[in-house]
Amino acid sequence: MKRILLIIALFAPICSRAAKEIVPQIVPAPQSIEMTKGSLKLKGIYINCDPALDARTVKAVKVFADRLSLVSGKTSSVASPVGLAASVDKGGRLSGLYFISDTRLAPESYELSISKKYAVVRVGDYNGALYALQTLRQMLPESIYGSTPDPSAKWSIPCCEIKDSPRFGYRGILLDCCRHFFSVEQVKKVLDVMYIFKLNRLHWHLTDDQGWRVEIDKYPKLTEIGAFRNGTMVGRDWDSNDGIRHGGYYTKEQIRDIVSYAAERGITVIPEIDLPGHMLAALASYPDLGCAGSAPYEVWSRWGVSKQVLNVGKEETMRFLEDICSEVAELFPGEYFNIGGDECPRDEWKTDPDCQAKIKELGLVTDEKASAEARLQNYVTARMQKFLASRGKKIIGWDEILEGELAEGATVMSWRGTSGGIKAASMGYDVIMSPNTYCYLDYAQSADLDNEPLGITRDPKRAVTLSKLYHYEPYDDLPAAAVGRILGVQCNLWTEYIATPEHLEYMLLPRLMALSEVQWCNADNKDYERFLSCLSGHELPILELLGYNYRKLD
Ligand code: ACM
Repeated sequence: MKRILLIIALFAPICSRAAKEIVPQIVPAPQSIEMTKGSLKLKGIYINCDPALDARTVKAVKVFADRLSLVSGKTSSVASPVGLAASVDKGGRLSGLYFISDTRLAPESYELSISKKYAVVRVGDYNGALYALQTLRQMLPESIYGSTPDPSAKWSIPCCEIKDSPRFGYRGILLDCCRHFFSVEQVKKVLDVMYIFKLNRLHWHLTDDQGWRVEIDKYPKLTEIGAFRNGTMVGRDWDSNDGIRHGGYYTKEQIRDIVSYAAERGITVIPEIDLPGHMLAALASYPDLGCAGSAPYEVWSRWGVSKQVLNVGKEETMRFLEDICSEVAELFPGEYFNIGGDECPRDEWKTDPDCQAKIKELGLVTDEKASAEARLQNYVTARMQKFLASRGKKIIGWDEILEGELAEGATVMSWRGTSGGIKAASMGYDVIMSPNTYCYLDYAQSADLDNEPLGITRDPKRAVTLSKLYHYEPYDDLPAAAVGRILGVQCNLWTEYIATPEHLEYMLLPRLMALSEVQWCNADNKDYERFLSCLSGHELPILELLGYNYRKLD
């Protein structure tokens, strides 16, 4: 009976008077936060985990508790997992921090109910628990993110009621490790900052004209030859070459390590094998897969898109793609696989005998909707979609895959502005909005280009400022019936002009935080002034403490 009463007490709303308190500086802002009076001391708090929580959630809670103990100078222990009643104090009063599994909550959701004596954290699933922990961290002094003891800081959190869940299930960042190669440690550093701001998808661009970055057992030359280029163009001089060999690749073991590191942080890594264009590094490795008269091939030292593309008229090429995707699919447990499909020049297919024979065999015609060569790309997309389905994967492709015919079940990533996404969603395809007009992190952060690093665009009107990204509304111009098709939003960090970790972080931050509010917050819950004040008051010092380079606010 006592146990029942205690449990009822736990689930009852915490009695409180509304009070004007300083609202904690949390990014992305929770959907609902109601401040009440007082605060709860977390220093040396006892943390109770519901037995229904799974082992990895309890582990995440322990990571939090250990860090809290270290920085606050007093041990916070975790009861793992014990019955709730067993963890109530001698006086029968509740105290401590209670983590409770509440499967009524939507995916990735959580609720925090904090009173002066105790706090109840309800989580629907693993990501919900991670995000509750991130919100708790953001309510604490910044030193919670470090490992330096800071016992004199105020280790308490304000009393409040938070109900939180993401607006979108897909909250991504694309990282291009082809144009410039980045180490495993740097990829993990990107994952770390994504985790702080509740992003949950890393779209990993692993193959391109300028470098092949994933180890494939069946085709070792892809990494022996395709992973390295003999120099890189200098600045904007297309005919120059710095003569410095550049490259690298990730072994399968490193990829598994990154995938598991990401999963621990609630992030799914989605590989992109960009096909059938953007394949020069593969062609340099296996020239027989090219079109007639196209060779020789060399891993590209310049930016842009090579006209040399795969000969998809040959069955051998299609088997090569299937073999690669099969090995890559095994490394990434998520449900999606990105097959690229963007910017494929089809000129070589017009004269290649194999491609023309394939066009004839398939009965592909040029009409007002699409050319026969565009339809040949449709054939490649459909075939890869079917193949990947046999490996348990759904495909995502850039909005070019919509040209001509696209089979049901594909997800379209809208990058050439928003129109492709609007069209695809209206046609009933799932869509991820990633318009270059708002979401390209390789574009300058200010129109004052002279004071920004050299970047991909010289047009000041195309700058993606913090404010511009923050104010992006993914439902704009979308018919009401198509709204449900928008899975989420992604920003893309292409790296043609980004060669160092410092520059990478500068382009990513703090725009990633603006993105996090676009992805997480309902439109009526965004407030740029509040966001900026959170950044300067709390979030940028966190980046500082963690050693990230970021662009200072204007
Ligand atoms: C792209 O930026 N080519 C998707």
